[in-house]
Amino acid sequence: MSNHVIIFDTTLRDGEQSPGASMNTAEKLRLAIQLEKLGVDVLEAGFPAASEGDLDAVSRIAGKLEKTEVAALARTSREDIDRAWQAVSHAAKPRIHTFIATSDLHLEYKLKMTRDQVINASVEAVKYARTLTDHIEFSAEDGSRSDRDFLCRIFEAAIEAGATTVNLPDTVGYAVPEEFSDLVSYVIAHTPNIQRAIVSVHCHNDLGLATANTIAALKAGARQAEVTINGIGERAGNTSLEEVVMALHTRRNFLDLDTGIRTEYIHPTSRLVSMITGIMVQPNKAVVGANAFAHEAGIHQDGVLKNPMTYEIMRPETIGLSANKLVLGKHSGRHALRTHLKHMGYDLSDEELNLVFEKFKVLADKKKQVVDEDLEVIITEGLLRTADVFKLMYLHITAGTTVLPMASVKLDVNGRSVQGAGYGNGPIDAAFNTIANLAGTQSELLRFSISALTGGTDAQGEVTVRLRENGLVALGKGADPDIITASAKAYINGLNRMEYLKSHPVTEAALV
Ligand code: KIV
Ligand code: ZN
Repeated sequence: MSNHVIIFDTTLRDGEQSPGASMNTAEKLRLAIQLEKLGVDVLEAGFPAASEGDLDAVSRIAGKLEKTEVAALARTSREDIDRAWQAVSHAAKPRIHTFIATSDLHLEYKLKMTRDQVINASVEAVKYARTLTDHIEFSAEDGSRSDRDFLCRIFEAAIEAGATTVNLPDTVGYAVPEEFSDLVSYVIAHTPNIQRAIVSVHCHNDLGLATANTIAALKAGARQAEVTINGIGERAGNTSLEEVVMALHTRRNFLDLDTGIRTEYIHPTSRLVSMITGIMVQPNKAVVGANAFAHEAGIHQDGVLKNPMTYEIMRPETIGLSANKLVLGKHSGRHALRTHLKHMGYDLSDEELNLVFEKFKVLADKKKQVVDEDLEVIITEGLLRTADVFKLMYLHITAGTTVLPMASVKLDVNGRSVQGAGYGNGPIDAAFNTIANLAGTQSELLRFSISALTGGTDAQGEVTVRLRENGLVALGKGADPDIITASAKAYINGLNRMEYLKSHPVTEAALV
């Protein structure tokens, strides 16, 4: 059996199902390009039956990627499969991923189907999809809570019908490693034609065991891992790509498995996902958390200085965290900026470069050194965001120990200028109250958090807000050397994302 593990990234599909993590098409396209650079083998770009927006995004990604297989998700109906195919048919390497639930619980309460009916629907779906393309993945949703022998039966039937990958999901994050490894071994041993397909696993992190379950399954013979960057995804998230890849990389001596991931792109990709989705990475997150390579205890610091291997099992450079980052300053020219952005994966048109250069100069005047994280913010805010409903034109704050905090704000609302002033408990509260009044929003602010984008007192403040309106949740993100401006930008970005969600309704397909 090969020791190569296929990395199937579903950040753009299951990852996007994280509450509030909606991404627009430009953001999805940028992320897809980055994932190709990272070296994922398969990229699940979306669920085209869910909405017109999803179909469009998957279709654009399919047209852009050259080396990566692009997968589209579909239920077992012909309509879903047709939409999936419509979205990926022009990809260099298309894949249709069809799924149906297999646990008795889902059959009885959700699908109201018998086991035989589920097998028939799966066989029909795979056979039909196979008339369209050669790469078909079949998933048994809630596989970890399904009857083992039924799983073997349905996988055998799906492979017979033409499935080239069979995926065993732990949809609700219920499995524990020994049990999951045992289930994978059982399925491999008792599905007669299993050698004709790749066995895949797809784990959720409800008990914090997604990575452990995935590694256990790979050890038992699975050869595809379905993962997301930063582990984002439905509820507690999916298995995180960086954890699986670095576990295989670091413990190759024990696991004897490898991937085609270019690990030096792990950290930049993690940053990009967090910037685009607004979902912060917890500081103590394995591999990509801000503290993952920080040594606090004196004994540890002393050891690391003498030999990093005393307390570091991975080198920060391996995941793209370099102490000697190339920095740009206010004297850097357009050419240096273009070359550096190209190195970061951005191939900009002259017009785009002019816009970024202008913003770069403004930032370089406020901040001595501009690093990659700062440039990512400029690109995300300046180029990737769709036409915003609300734009910040002007913000003036009066605050201090002896005055009532007050904000004067000018907004552009769909091309119309509005301005006003308001008070608050503090300067940020005053800014938010005034913006909310001018925007006429009903959104409720659920969460506000702030951190420094990089080290140093001149670092940009990075703010994340979470807003809710009529059951919709939107995240907003903003960065600026001035933390009140960063907060206002994040709030306005949240309001714009809320508008985007309102104008891009999902069909009931997205509610499966
Ligand atoms: O968690 C799950 O079961 C899924 C399937 C659609 C693969 O996301
Ligand atoms: Zn899932």
